[in-house]
Amino acid sequence: MRQQSRQIMPGRNSLCSCGSGKKYKVCCMNKENKAPSNLFTQLTSKIPTLKEQYKKKFDIVLKEPHQIDGIRKSGSLLLDIMDKVENMIRPGLKTDDINTFVHEETIKAGAIPAPLNYRGFPKSVCVSVNEVICHGIPGDLVLKDGDIVNVDITPILNGYYADANKTFFVGNPTDDGKKIVSVARESLKRAIETVGPGSRLGDIGWAIQSYAESQGCSVVREFVGHGVGLNFHEQPQVLHFGKKGKGVILVPGMVFTIEPMINLGTRKLHVLEDKWTAVTDDGALSAQFEQTILVTETGWESLTPYEL
Ligand code: MF3
Ligand code: CO
Ligand code: CO
Repeated sequence: MRQQSRQIMPGRNSLCSCGSGKKYKVCCMNKENKAPSNLFTQLTSKIPTLKEQYKKKFDIVLKEPHQIDGIRKSGSLLLDIMDKVENMIRPGLKTDDINTFVHEETIKAGAIPAPLNYRGFPKSVCVSVNEVICHGIPGDLVLKDGDIVNVDITPILNGYYADANKTFFVGNPTDDGKKIVSVARESLKRAIETVGPGSRLGDIGWAIQSYAESQGCSVVREFVGHGVGLNFHEQPQVLHFGKKGKGVILVPGMVFTIEPMINLGTRKLHVLEDKWTAVTDDGALSAQFEQTILVTETGWESLTPYEL
């Protein structure tokens, strides 16, 4: 016969096994689930998770794997539409034709165009030509040879937002067009390459500002990248200028856009009467590229991946 096992529950007067140093009867005996919690559980249960800390300190929502899958699918739809738009771009196309196409393709896929009626925005996509920095409203403007045109698409698929944009050449690019599009594209590429767990938001801004300014271009300050996924614009704000080593520490599960707007001349801007269209003060060209980026355990993943 086996020896009877020793009593597992402590006696009323023995030291409580939770580590408090008190007698069991005045400690865990009267607590809800009776059994004394071990010291490890007691200590660790008081430490907020990273997800809880980022929510509380910064209002940043770290995304769960199923949410990341949802954003990635929305991003894949976005890129399908973007590729088709690229093939339509030619002199003679009206910016409203881009809107009609993006709207219909989005709806056809069972998604919603996030820009439509967002804070009163009247169309389903932003189309920004030449000196328009961002938030151009599609309309009767006709694209002509030598223009540059930015198309910024944001579908909501099954509740998940993905946000990306690209600047295209219309017909044959001018030297100024080639220059500003190249600097904007390279700015986003360099910014993305800084992303990883332990790096900082300021590293992103620094990568953009130091490169763009070294090329004699300027960085728009009034518009910023942003957390995205469960809403159009979430925390954090992602500045496109700043200092290396400053700002919030990036951790896995963060999802945000990087979307530098780079000007050939002054960074100063004004917004037109329509309350949306942002244009350069000097009328010089502005270009932009945007992707939705996930911070992973080892670095980054674009949820709207295209070659830069
Ligand atoms: N897609 C833009 C961004 O990158 C936001 C456009 S807001 C709109 O954040 F209302 F103009 F659509
Ligand atoms: Co954005
Ligand atoms: Co966008």
